[in-house]
Amino acid sequence: MFTYFDHLECSACSRTWERNTLINLCPCGGPVLARYRLEEAARAMDRRSLPGHGLWRYHAVLPVESPERIVSLGEGMTPLLRADRLGRRLGLDALSIKNEALNPTGAFKDLGFSVAVSRAAELGVKEVAVPSAGNAGSAAAAYAARAGLQAHIVFPRDVPQAFILECRYYGAHVELVEGRINDAGKRVAEGCKKHGWFDLSTLKEPYRLEGKKYMGYHLAEQLDWVLPDVIVYPTGGGTGLVGMWKSFEEMETMGWIDSRRPRMVSVQAAGCAPIVRAFESGASRAEFWENAATIAAGLRVPGAVGDALMLRALRESQGTAVAVSDQEIIRGVEQLAQSEGIFACPETGAALAGLRQLVERGWVGRQERVVLFNTGSALKYLDVLGAESFGSGPR
Ligand SMILES: Cc1ncc(COP(=O)(O)O)c(C=O)c1O
Repeated sequence: MFTYFDHLECSACSRTWERNTLINLCPCGGPVLARYRLEEAARAMDRRSLPGHGLWRYHAVLPVESPERIVSLGEGMTPLLRADRLGRRLGLDALSIKNEALNPTGAFKDLGFSVAVSRAAELGVKEVAVPSAGNAGSAAAAYAARAGLQAHIVFPRDVPQAFILECRYYGAHVELVEGRINDAGKRVAEGCKKHGWFDLSTLKEPYRLEGKKYMGYHLAEQLDWVLPDVIVYPTGGGTGLVGMWKSFEEMETMGWIDSRRPRMVSVQAAGCAPIVRAFESGASRAEFWENAATIAAGLRVPGAVGDALMLRALRESQGTAVAVSDQEIIRGVEQLAQSEGIFACPETGAALAGLRQLVERGWVGRQERVVLFNTGSALKYLDVLGAESFGSGPR
């Protein structure tokens, strides 16, 4: 069998649907998740020799029914790099970087859109829409072009220029709105209602998460099925973190890993840190963050649909959430570039700054095995990075 995808289930109220239902959120407001017949999938898959390339080697635990419907640009074979020089600077003996910037459009968002666009096209969708802070727009537009679908991308007006240009080249219809990603989300919702576009907003459909969960599978594979002690991830809408958390549960059910889990760390920007605030106050939902502002566009998400799922993953993993300033973010970008030759996006600069804080506080121990995710390339942020007073030379 090509997939063991079984049914859809609401993460909040547990209502279920038949798997071929074209769905956005549950009427209760909860994100809907894909569920699989995992015991059967485990019997069918030899995890040590999965045929093919990248993400789609895991087709048995992905939702697409027919191999011909896969929309791929070769995503997923991203390296896990030892980062000893950076580790020494931070005071860590076993730091690695999972470099998702090597995906086709330069960010981890490709994984989600490869799956979501494949599945939308398989279910008959012709036009897709997404509000985006940057990278999600690029990925949606690229995969939609590859699938022959029309994409509608709505960005906040202050999005870095490269994203706008790139999406237009892919043939997407690009619209800029005043405000932030939630304002872009409202415009997408209007368009969907009026024109019948399918809404691919973060966690408002089940399948972007399925692509993101592959990061957990691939990481486990690269570490010979022993997960690290700590995973540090820059968090906006939260699909990266929640997707990996889902993969760990699936892999344990399939008998691929044991019950030990990494402590998951969500890093946000001090100018937009709703998850950090909710985590620290013990809340199960995050309140909307007014006047969100940070140079890390992907972290400028004042209200996330997946807040409850994120907070649950952080708490179940004994993880934490930290906020960092824009100055620390730039310093993180510089430090990663100078220590390891990786020119990463500001979101990753934030993750590095967050990790630094946690080492200084003693929350991460010297000998722990830590994986820091580089979620995207710096090259689309040159207008933002160039405007900052950085480049202080070798350190
Ligand atoms: C480079 C980058 N890193 C991290 C994030 C945050 O990802 P998520 O929304 O899955 O939390 C984004 C989202 O736009 C991003 O573009």
